[in-house]
Amino acid sequence: MPKTSNFSGVVPTPKNNDSFEEFISSFPEYLKTESIDQLRQQEYGRLDRLGHVYLDYTGGGLYSEKQIEHHTNLLVENVFGNPHSTNPTSRAMTDLVITARDRVLEFFNASPEEYVCIFTQNASGALKLVGESYPFGHGDTYLLTFDNHNSVNGIREFARSKGATVHYTPVLPPEMRMDEEKLVNFLDFKKTGGNNLFAFPAQSNFSGVQHSLDWIEKAHERGWDVLLDGAAFTPTNRLDLSKVHPDFVTLSFYKLFGYPTGVGALIARKSVMSKLHRPWFAGGTISVASVQGDTYYLHKGAEGFEDGTLNYLSLPAVTIGLDHISAVGYETIHTRVQCLTGWLLDKLGGLRHSNGNPVVKIYGPLEMKDRGGTIACNFFDKSGHFIDHMLVETQANKQNISIRTGCFCNPGGGELALGISADELTSCFALRPNMEYNDFRQCIDDKSNGAVRISVGLVSNFNDVSKFYDFAAEFVDKDGSQI
Ligand SMILES: Cc1ncc(COP(=O)(O)O)c(C=O)c1O
Repeated sequence: MPKTSNFSGVVPTPKNNDSFEEFISSFPEYLKTESIDQLRQQEYGRLDRLGHVYLDYTGGGLYSEKQIEHHTNLLVENVFGNPHSTNPTSRAMTDLVITARDRVLEFFNASPEEYVCIFTQNASGALKLVGESYPFGHGDTYLLTFDNHNSVNGIREFARSKGATVHYTPVLPPEMRMDEEKLVNFLDFKKTGGNNLFAFPAQSNFSGVQHSLDWIEKAHERGWDVLLDGAAFTPTNRLDLSKVHPDFVTLSFYKLFGYPTGVGALIARKSVMSKLHRPWFAGGTISVASVQGDTYYLHKGAEGFEDGTLNYLSLPAVTIGLDHISAVGYETIHTRVQCLTGWLLDKLGGLRHSNGNPVVKIYGPLEMKDRGGTIACNFFDKSGHFIDHMLVETQANKQNISIRTGCFCNPGGGELALGISADELTSCFALRPNMEYNDFRQCIDDKSNGAVRISVGLVSNFNDVSKFYDFAAEFVDKDGSQI
């Protein structure tokens, strides 16, 4: 398969903003990432042609035009059948499925002796596989950080239904990092069952905090299995599974390279996989099943976890996407994201109304150490009252700026950052048996019930973040009624 990107040559540098010089003097490493400007021009031209300021990379990555071209050519020039057979068209497809599976392991430096790659619909599908198959029982514990996506939170329902105990370990505002003492206490807590799972995100989709991967080994040493949610981390950070050895890694490929949607992976450690019990069998997952004999045998390895027919035509696009990221280079992507996020943090953090009140409050670290390219914040008017995050989004929409608002499916992170207490939530939920999001908003209307999220990624440039800063500066000296 051809490599996706070839973007050497003269590099255009965005000079249409006065502050670019100032930015470069603070973040000179940005200049080492100029190859991405060329890439953006050649393969993501639609962004600037259509005037989009895309700042929702944590929601979804963007695909390059070449990725689509390569994938389309592959489909147009070949005949592919369902890989569950041995006929020529099926065989051709099977080969590409094997290539994609191997490429995923290679990309994450995961030894095939140690790990398998199970294709799923998305990260949530991978998390559900763990939840429904992990052998939780009485005396076992599911431990997870407050800071988690709902698809990790949802595993608690599987754990509880099988009699396990669920514990949440907090993160501490304002930095939103792990409360290390509490976590160690939880990890040290004497367990009476044999199957205990600790789940945390490598990077928060709320605050951008990168939780230390050292917790994986610390948890292993204390007898835990570890689920690392890599969905928000892997788009701009290298995850090297020869250096860290979580038992389960979950991710969605569209977050890395935009296309295809509908494919994710559970990268599972073979030694722990053997203790998973699937609650059912399906087409594709069994080597033998019998009606009269009333029995079935699951495939060993990945196939035993892939229900029905894979999204097989999309899998070559995963290989193409991974090749694309490799060609651009994680170090380059990472450096660019660090520079742009660092600048935006400084600028937003320093934005003041004329009376000295801050315009923006950032939830999470203000420095770039151990954090990624996601910034969660709220806007405040001149008198210090928060501005509804949905109003901020509406204003951004008018300028073709794509951001995300709400709690980003990370309620624990949101509740801690926004100071919403367990008591408030309990009384709020007690009032309303059927709750819609607007009911929830009204229930805690004296506080902000969500935040604004800006996230940079693969082809972000200085213009994107400086346009967001200019947008934020429009809120200076506004009071609530003027917005
Ligand atoms: C940290 C994290 N985990 C899991 C998910 C779930 O991903 P998906 O919606 O692709 O299943 C997301 C999605 O935003 C995420 O950011």
